[in-house]
Amino acid sequence: MSPNQPGQPPKLPIPGVKNLIAVGSGKGGVGKTTVAVNLAIGLAKLGHPTGLMDADVYGPNVPLMMGINRTPMAYGERIQPLDQYGVKLMSMGFLNPGDKPLVWRGPMLHSVIQQFLRGVDWGDLDYLVIDLPPGTGDVQLTLIQTAPITGAIVVTTPSDVSLEDARKAVHMFHQVKVPILGIVENMSYLICPQCNERIDVFSHGGGRRTAGEMKVHFLGELPLNPDVRVGGDSGKPVVLTAGPGTAGEGFLELARNMMRRIEEMGPQQVPSIEITD
Ligand SMILES: Nc1ncnc2c1ncn2[C@@H]1O[C@H](COP(=O)(O)OP(=O)(O)OP(=O)(O)O)[C@@H](O)[C@H]1O
Ligand SMILES: [Mg+2]
Repeated sequence: MSPNQPGQPPKLPIPGVKNLIAVGSGKGGVGKTTVAVNLAIGLAKLGHPTGLMDADVYGPNVPLMMGINRTPMAYGERIQPLDQYGVKLMSMGFLNPGDKPLVWRGPMLHSVIQQFLRGVDWGDLDYLVIDLPPGTGDVQLTLIQTAPITGAIVVTTPSDVSLEDARKAVHMFHQVKVPILGIVENMSYLICPQCNERIDVFSHGGGRRTAGEMKVHFLGELPLNPDVRVGGDSGKPVVLTAGPGTAGEGFLELARNMMRRIEEMGPQQVPSIEITD
């Protein structure tokens, strides 16, 4: 857990929740929600009670990708999370179904995030995975300032534009003393289904290189694979059918790598890292 910062109100733990994992990126559309969804199911499959909080309140994609959209029940003040594939879920999409956009500003956004963190009956969880919206804006800051995030996973593609924004996300987490669990390179390469040759659609290796330059861990590569897209669009994420040689296996491996990283970090440990850019 990250310690409190001087001059800031204390970051109170979420009762019962052992680890808060933020999945972010600088850039939109790089696969944060895909990673968050498959990671959460993967952790549950590995035997860990897990929740998934969709903090993308303006563009919540978790309901679609998890294949569930119902209005959650509330007992008194407490909202009951939905449960799908063994993962407890909360998303603004459950409260505002349909295509109507939300037009909220700072204070309301702040209170929704607080409500999702502390007004939901998460119960006892080993991991609460938080799917962040793209960028380094209000939602990220609210979360970081009020919740003791165990660590952040930064998702990027290997393209230079994505890496540039990933560096910004790493800087942001460093600045606010949230440990970085590592960088994930998504859409890393494509295996041609006809000729079996590997195509580096968005270039390759930038995630690992950037992790090295910024002295953070590299958590792995996830190939660009049509099964991943189909799994997301159909509400049956690929990790559900993970097995040797399948697209889902990479996400299970990511879950294992992440758990290893948290163990290595130990409690209360925030790495002090000098950044070379
Ligand atoms: N490894 C992959 N292989 C194939 N398709 C992928 C892969 N990762 C993500 N996608 C697809 O790319 C699209 C964007 O992914 P996703 O919504 O997870 O990105 P995001 O970073 O959460 O976007 P946003 O910034 O809008 O929240 C989705 O259609 C998803 O299914
Ligand atoms: Mg998303």
